[in-house]
Amino acid sequence: MSLFQSGTQALQAVLAHCATNQSALRNEVILPAYGCPDLVTACLGAGLTPRFADILANGWGYCQSSLQSTLGPATLAVVAVDLLGLGDESPRLRSLIHDPDIALVQDSAQHLPRHPAPWSSDYQVFSFGRGKPLNLLGGGAATGVEQAQPEINAVSRRNLMQSRAGALLFNVATNPWLYGLASRLPGLGIGSTRYRLPQQLRAPSPGLAQQLAVALPNWRRYASYSVMAWQPYLTAWEALGIQVLRTSYCDTTPTEPLRLGLSAASTQLRDQLVAALCRAGLGASRLYGSALPQIDGVPSQLRSQGTYPAAEALATRLFTLPTHTGLTAREAEKADRIVRHIAGSIR
Ligand SMILES: Cc1ncc(COP(=O)(O)O)c(C=O)c1O
Repeated sequence: MSLFQSGTQALQAVLAHCATNQSALRNEVILPAYGCPDLVTACLGAGLTPRFADILANGWGYCQSSLQSTLGPATLAVVAVDLLGLGDESPRLRSLIHDPDIALVQDSAQHLPRHPAPWSSDYQVFSFGRGKPLNLLGGGAATGVEQAQPEINAVSRRNLMQSRAGALLFNVATNPWLYGLASRLPGLGIGSTRYRLPQQLRAPSPGLAQQLAVALPNWRRYASYSVMAWQPYLTAWEALGIQVLRTSYCDTTPTEPLRLGLSAASTQLRDQLVAALCRAGLGASRLYGSALPQIDGVPSQLRSQGTYPAAEALATRLFTLPTHTGLTAREAEKADRIVRHIAGSIR
């Protein structure tokens, strides 16, 4: 596992690594057409071209036909994004990618597993930035790039060994059994909703390894997110046109999402709900306001690749609710009253 200044830089390093030993003609990275603009930043920072594929019409994940029509001889990698901890369907994606030269990258910036779980990708990316599951105010990590950035690894390794905590983490990261655990690390603004210009890769902050050494054992021990407070209301909300966002092959709500993702039947309903829930201090938020190619600042030449009806629809309907464990049953009940009132009056 290698440490980076941010999740964006970790993804950039992974994509640059994918390109090593590949023909320069393989220069396209497939991204979901809904998501964090940092995905575009990382591709461009690695000198590669983002190619967007639409998402599922009623759920999170790639639309199979859109993905398949985007795959081609220029495809270098497919990025499977775990939005809000809902999952990224990487096993399904793996079975759809038949070309062994195409890498599957799991971007797990929004989900940090608490327990070891098998990965089905070639690379995994994590973030420790603001709004991420383990918020260290910055930092990122990736697996699979150990050879790619020797100068960065050299720096982080030196920093690691400079303290006992660092030495501990270094041991954790290199112990064969624990390596598996550490390499599954993952990682408001669940990411910025503004496009940031690419930057050259730089070494992570010297304190990152030590911070992780302290934070990770606690991460394993204490649950910080739970959907439990919302569970009693979700079935009734679905009947009111407010669907819980899920991947296509999971019909249960994830138990520890970073936020609860909900898709309202219309933009009007979504906007009224967000406004009323915020007025009541219940922390509702929209997520990315448009399909990824249309986000402000994304280079204009990427806007004309196609249209992405499902991504555009999600951008106008998705909203999220907090899932931190401090959320009380009383707050959830108050939110439920607001939701019923507004959804009932709009129908
Ligand atoms: C899916 C995804 N990938 C990558 C990033 C970039 O992470 P960072 O903010 O650490 O650069 C984000 C940020 O929100 C993200 O949501």
